[in-house]
Amino acid sequence: MNSNLKQFVNGFASQGVREIKLKDLLNLRKPEQATREIRTTFPPVTIGSVTLVDQIVLLCLDELVAPSYILEIGTFQGFTTRLLARNSAAHLIYSVDLPPTDTKLIDTLDAVRILRDGSYNDDHLRDIQNRSGEVYLKDLTVDEMKRVRLIKADSTSLDFTAEFASIEFAFIDGGHGYDIVRSDTENVLRVMKHGVIVWHDFSSGIHSDVTRYLSDRAIENRIFHVQGSLCAFQLVGC
Ligand SMILES: C[S@@+](CC[C@H](N)C(=O)[O-])C[C@H]1O[C@@H](n2cnc3c(N)ncnc32)[C@H](O)[C@@H]1O
Repeated sequence: MNSNLKQFVNGFASQGVREIKLKDLLNLRKPEQATREIRTTFPPVTIGSVTLVDQIVLLCLDELVAPSYILEIGTFQGFTTRLLARNSAAHLIYSVDLPPTDTKLIDTLDAVRILRDGSYNDDHLRDIQNRSGEVYLKDLTVDEMKRVRLIKADSTSLDFTAEFASIEFAFIDGGHGYDIVRSDTENVLRVMKHGVIVWHDFSSGIHSDVTRYLSDRAIENRIFHVQGSLCAFQLVGC
């Protein structure tokens, strides 16, 4: 892990949610990486994926932490999985999403409710994932795909210690209900000795449980929110 990153986080009090700027993260990178090129596409405009700023936050943290093993919870259509497969030097990228099912969770979509009700929104995303699968992964080369492991399971019933030896970078973006986010976080901590946990949808108007969970977690932990993004993160073991 980059020593500038450790020094930066340790400069803050050990509890609370700290607001930082994207520039703070960019400044921690080594000067020789300043002109590094990344491979991505314009962010999807469909509901449920990451913004361009989120992508930069994820890739900055990946570069600073230099993980060997990445875990994403919530593959969805594979946009972030593809971003990481193409740009991270990690050895393996695990990505977990629910197994296929014949059950449709929402019959007729309510366009207003989808923007207000987090659990309804989550069910809609589950339906899309089930219907479309990991469409973005089709663009990966055979070699890039060899570094991706898709795991079809409910993250809340998966045995993390049996499935993963160690994880140094976790992106938690599966179910956004309070108990799921808490379960995913506790499970990640079982297999992470040192590294970074990034939560998506912090400060999102729809998935307010993520913000609530992280505010509760911040009573005893130092969490950072990158302004202008939906990403919050915590360093583990430093
Ligand atoms: C917001 S999307 C993930 C977006 C994706 N990370 C990206 O960047 O494009 C949430 C995904 O979490 C999945 N999900 C919801 N609950 C889950 C659970 N309990 N276990 C595993 N995956 C879950 C949904 O099926 C959906 O595909």
